[in-house]
Amino acid sequence: MQRKILVTSALPYANGSIHLGHLVEYIQTDVWVRFQKMRGNECHYVCADDAHGTPIMLHAQKLDITPEQLIANIQEEHEADFAGFAINFDNFHSTHSPENKALSSQVYLANRDAGHIATRTISQAYDPEKEMFLPDRFIKGECPKCGVADQYGDNCEACGATYDATELKNPVSAVSGATPITKDSEHYFFKLGDFEEDLKQWTRSGHLQEEVSHKLNEWFESGLKDWDISRDAPYFGFEIPDAPNKFFYVWLDAPIGYLASFKNYCDRTGVDFDEYLKPDSTTEMIHFIGKDIINFHALFWPAMLQGAGFRRPNAIYAHGFLTVDGKKMSKSRGTFIKARTYLDHLNPEYLRYYFAAKLGSGIDDIDLNLEDFQSRINSDLVGKVVNIASRCAGFISKRFDGKLASTLSEQALFDDFVNQADTIANKMENREFGQAMRDIMALADKANQYIDEMKPWALAKEQGKDQQVHDICTMGINLFRVLIAYLKPVLPTTAEQAEDFLNIEPILWSDIATPILDHKINPFKALMTRIETDKIIAIQQASKETMAVEQAVVEKSKTATNIEPVADEISFDDFAKIDLRIAKIVNAEHVEEANKLLKLTLDIGLGEKQVFAGIKSAYAPEDLIGKLTVMVANLAPRKMRFGLSEGMVLAAGPGGKDLFILNPDDGAQAGMRVK
Ligand code: MSP
Ligand code: ZN
Repeated sequence: MQRKILVTSALPYANGSIHLGHLVEYIQTDVWVRFQKMRGNECHYVCADDAHGTPIMLHAQKLDITPEQLIANIQEEHEADFAGFAINFDNFHSTHSPENKALSSQVYLANRDAGHIATRTISQAYDPEKEMFLPDRFIKGECPKCGVADQYGDNCEACGATYDATELKNPVSAVSGATPITKDSEHYFFKLGDFEEDLKQWTRSGHLQEEVSHKLNEWFESGLKDWDISRDAPYFGFEIPDAPNKFFYVWLDAPIGYLASFKNYCDRTGVDFDEYLKPDSTTEMIHFIGKDIINFHALFWPAMLQGAGFRRPNAIYAHGFLTVDGKKMSKSRGTFIKARTYLDHLNPEYLRYYFAAKLGSGIDDIDLNLEDFQSRINSDLVGKVVNIASRCAGFISKRFDGKLASTLSEQALFDDFVNQADTIANKMENREFGQAMRDIMALADKANQYIDEMKPWALAKEQGKDQQVHDICTMGINLFRVLIAYLKPVLPTTAEQAEDFLNIEPILWSDIATPILDHKINPFKALMTRIETDKIIAIQQASKETMAVEQAVVEKSKTATNIEPVADEISFDDFAKIDLRIAKIVNAEHVEEANKLLKLTLDIGLGEKQVFAGIKSAYAPEDLIGKLTVMVANLAPRKMRFGLSEGMVLAAGPGGKDLFILNPDDGAQAGMRVK
């Protein structure tokens, strides 16, 4: 029977770039969804940017743009990154949308009318200068335990202590630097305790992974407390319908954003929204999430849905966190890798395969070991799978005019391959992708062994062995086709290229058992190439660089008309210390393995200086040679990985292509002081 399934991945915050950690989730979900579609199920995969909250509001202020502009810019970037990894959302929306506003009101009002909302006055840290309440992470001070300064409101990076923001010594607002005061305000609460019995039952009846359901017992043991769902203005979010100047806390409208994205999709496509949302729905609703956001999805969310008269999810599938080379992703080690940085250097299908090979149905963390990644891809995908086709295709093209034989010479071997279809499907269904990949690679080994034993290349040199060569290569191509079909949810782009090569329609799971015979295929083109070590090094180096450049350069999301707020005031004496000189660019060259930097040799009359400048996005080296520019000549030299940098050239603009080195007028001479 055809299932009807609504699938979601957690909504990424519209406050930063997608990184490889996020991709564990989006790749896992996408593989599962593609598998469902290949099985012939009706499956809708929706997502959105999570656009509300204090950090996004403050981030926009800092960039001097509206939050709407910020989230629009980020959404564009996110969508491009997801497309780059072939994450095939049926809809990608935003929580800052009319659909979400309407649905959030609906869910809230229904819960209020059913008596599940309470109000109460609480006191909180308040920034008297900025006139806003301060979330813990926007308060800094000295650790109450070890006294180290500049620690955030919830934990100390120096000694690891956790505490309440009110315990910090000499606290300051991270927003304005003012000393916070304590201020009262009325807040709205969702009475989670009203749902205790239902939640106990729901969390223990197969909707959750066992370890997750186990973990939630801690919540029940300490009692379900009211959940604070309101925030005071100023806040970027939706105003609460019956409470002017109070806004829904971002985590109230975020999961409702799943439904809002789906609603937007249904309105566009004619899919029946209500059929999926009514309490007795026979459709499925499934959320993929990371283990850090379990309580929001497995407690608050089902309770809110129930209180609003909607159905609850069928399943919540949580996954673990990504580590790189066994450690938390780190900016300084170059292992905090953004989606875009990876895409600049490597085929996204490699990462999809590697994550699939590592993923299971549990919540263990998964490790991206870069060396293992490289050897796994080279041996499994390039060495095993693609190799089968490349070993057989040439003979078929050259000797048999591209045409496969009309029968299978080894029916039993072919049957061995297709008989695995149910086992592999079961593993995919249960998110045991790693096990499925192992099964598939065992079959790939078998196919290669067969070809090794049959040695079509040797037979091809003998007289009268044409039929045998034809049979062996027809077998090889058919075994390859079955493997590609199994891998298709994981390697959608490669599968598509393989379908072109095989000259067949997109493969469905139900087609797997039917061989292609007496059929013309197209000439073979390399489907994948090996990963060379320099690519991995380049990714790490580029990750280090983007992080460094990001801190120094104006954020990319700024438009040229938005001027960076002026930096701290300096005295005239400070200014006078800067020795600005006209410099002639006598040479400019690329720096190997640096994405943004050019190496400039500058003549300032007093001899040459070497400067590394982050202007590669705007200038090719040959465009710079011979030009005059302004440089800071007395900057202390700085040792960089590429060599010594002995100054700075001055450039203006928001970054990217819009970066202009300062060009003095004709008549200037290298070495002249700039006044
Ligand atoms: N906006 C919330 C989710 C709201 S859902 C109604 C959020 N956003 S997030 O951008 O921080 O994370 C999005 C998803 O990516 C979450 O499921 C999170 O667990 C996952 N991951 C973020 N970093 C991750 C790793 N390093 N490793 C694996 N998954 C990670 O949470
Ligand atoms: Zn401390």
